[in-house]
Amino acid sequence: MTSPACPSRRALLAATGAGLGALALAGCGGDGVREVADAGSGTVLARVDDVPAEGALELAVGERRVLLVRAGDTVAAYEAECPHQGCAVRPTRGNRLVCPCHGSAFDPADGGVLQGPATAALTPVDVVLTAGEVRLA
Ligand code: FES
Repeated sequence: MTSPACPSRRALLAATGAGLGALALAGCGGDGVREVADAGSGTVLARVDDVPAEGALELAVGERRVLLVRAGDTVAAYEAECPHQGCAVRPTRGNRLVCPCHGSAFDPADGGVLQGPATAALTPVDVVLTAGEVRLA
């Protein structure tokens, strides 16, 4: 069964139009993390509508994990690597990004620390929104 955060390839193609070759989504990992291949400047990470109003859309972009979150009408992106000791930060309901290793929590609006032990914010990933898509800058 596919996670709601990780639509099937068929659903994705139906939603975006099969002719959009720029969409570089390669599939979903077994943990519901959407995989993005061939990541570089301009690579489409997701459709804006795929980013949930709460929590985050988790992506595997090459070797790194990226979280896409809603920030009002726009979308922000962060490296999922916790600045404390490097565990993968995960989204939770209630608009917090939480590290399961030691409990640090981060604000999806700016990646800032809400609760330690982390003392540094999540690293932002530069993205641009174009025609309803989130792309790497
Ligand atoms: S590695 Fe994230 S809180 Fe320690």
